[in-house]
Amino acid sequence: MTLELCIFDPDAWAERSAAALAGLITDAIAARGSCRVALAGGGTPAPVYQRLATADLDVAKVRWFWGDERAVPPDDDSSNYAMARRTLLDPIGASFDNVHRMRGELAPDAAVADYVEQLGEAPIDVMLLGMGGDGHTASLFPSTDMSGDARVLATRSPKPPPQRISLGLRAINEARVVVFLIAGAGKAARLAQVHGQITSGAAVLPAARVQPTRGRLIWLLDTAAAGNLEESP
Ligand code: 6PG
Repeated sequence: MTLELCIFDPDAWAERSAAALAGLITDAIAARGSCRVALAGGGTPAPVYQRLATADLDVAKVRWFWGDERAVPPDDDSSNYAMARRTLLDPIGASFDNVHRMRGELAPDAAVADYVEQLGEAPIDVMLLGMGGDGHTASLFPSTDMSGDARVLATRSPKPPPQRISLGLRAINEARVVVFLIAGAGKAARLAQVHGQITSGAAVLPAARVQPTRGRLIWLLDTAAAGNLEESP
């Protein structure tokens, strides 16, 4: 597995990241006639999604999933679904049939069972992820038991909202392309630690354990987040 690093100036990062994602989605459609995208949550992706909404995408051939969701109603301010609807799915007019929301309002076990059903067995084509300051990704935290191979699991977050639904490491690493969207100097130290864990083969943090079994791993970074990465030889 090769880690593909793309580092952009902060003021160009959202635009360049959106262009890269549009290309990956278009390539998947060209190769297989459709594209399953799993969206990242949190705050970082929002400006990228807003720009992706203006890209020339064959929207009818894209199915939208999530990497994780908070256990809140879909109209809650902290809902990852609500953020994606506002920034991307409503602007592109995504059809209801193509949007596969994690139903965070259900009890955890019910939400997990529902999403296992929605996700099916096919791999995600383009898996979008962020990284938290503790090295978590999706809702897989350093405290999360990741020993199983569940494709979807309920987890507890140290930051509110506490109850989460997340794709498991197996489903993430089965993706054809995994793309991390990481920006800001606040992530630089942890990102360097994650990078070191990957390159030394000693992955412990969740973000370091994202190493696709067959797919590509791409980090779309701004120069601030990449600030502590060793200059590549
Ligand atoms: C979530 C996300 C989570 C996020 C990181 C980074 O539900 O919070 O899926 O994994 O990507 O916490 O969050 P920021 O982009 O807000 O820093």
